[in-house]
Amino acid sequence: METVGNIPVHVSIIMDGNGRWAEERGLARTAGHVEGVESVRACTEAAVECGVKYLSLYAFSEENWGRPQAEVDTLMKLMFKSMIAEMPTFAENGIRFIVLGHRQRLSDELNAVIDDCMYRTKDNKNLTLVVFLSYSGRWDILQAAGKLAMELASHPGMAASIEELDTSCFDKYLVTAGIPDPDLIIRTSGEKRLSNYLLWQGAYSELVFSDILWPDFRKEEFREALRTYSKRDRRYGKVK
Ligand code: IPE
Ligand code: IPE
Ligand code: MG
Repeated sequence: METVGNIPVHVSIIMDGNGRWAEERGLARTAGHVEGVESVRACTEAAVECGVKYLSLYAFSEENWGRPQAEVDTLMKLMFKSMIAEMPTFAENGIRFIVLGHRQRLSDELNAVIDDCMYRTKDNKNLTLVVFLSYSGRWDILQAAGKLAMELASHPGMAASIEELDTSCFDKYLVTAGIPDPDLIIRTSGEKRLSNYLLWQGAYSELVFSDILWPDFRKEEFREALRTYSKRDRRYGKVK
């Protein structure tokens, strides 16, 4: 197992810079998305090698639906093809695969392959690989509040306990229920923003920004981000 210091339980990545990577080479933006799949493979392997238990990837935001239709279509086809192609690797390496996000917006074909992949890998224990698809942090908080309101409407007796609602109780309504909050959020490509990602869950995540474009972000860059994380002092608002 690789030694890179204090290992985070959950590493999350905002995979950014595919378009710029392609444009720098005079290629269509979609070439960057295709190359980016190699980085997903490399970082997944690195996560397993380093002993990370959860790796989550921001693959497509709710806002990304607003991109040109041809790019959206290519991205969706790429997700479909990659999931089918990677299924045997997930089985071999004990990877549990999960997709989280606004799944009603995805096609029936894509949802079917996601369900199949999630079902086949559900008992795997080495690493949980979460792909956020059609996800946004504000959408997640809103849908959680909606579920809570529905439950409250059908169980009026719950009203008394609404005062006692704490953050861990609200966690259960988010799509990430059962998944620990990310210890580390990495964003590639030099952008320094969250772009509507894990707004609730990232409250105390360490942030690492890398200038490397996602298609060039491979095992060594992943390990370097882990080394940076291991030097951080997490205080959670307390005094040490
Ligand atoms: C990230 O790369 C992939 C998605 C957001 C789907 P981009 O496509 O955002 O690449 P840049 O930021 O335009 O270079
Ligand atoms: C964030 O990247 C979303 C994903 C990586 C899936 P964007 O490229 O969409 O973010 P902005 O537009 O630069 O904020
Ligand atoms: Mg981008």
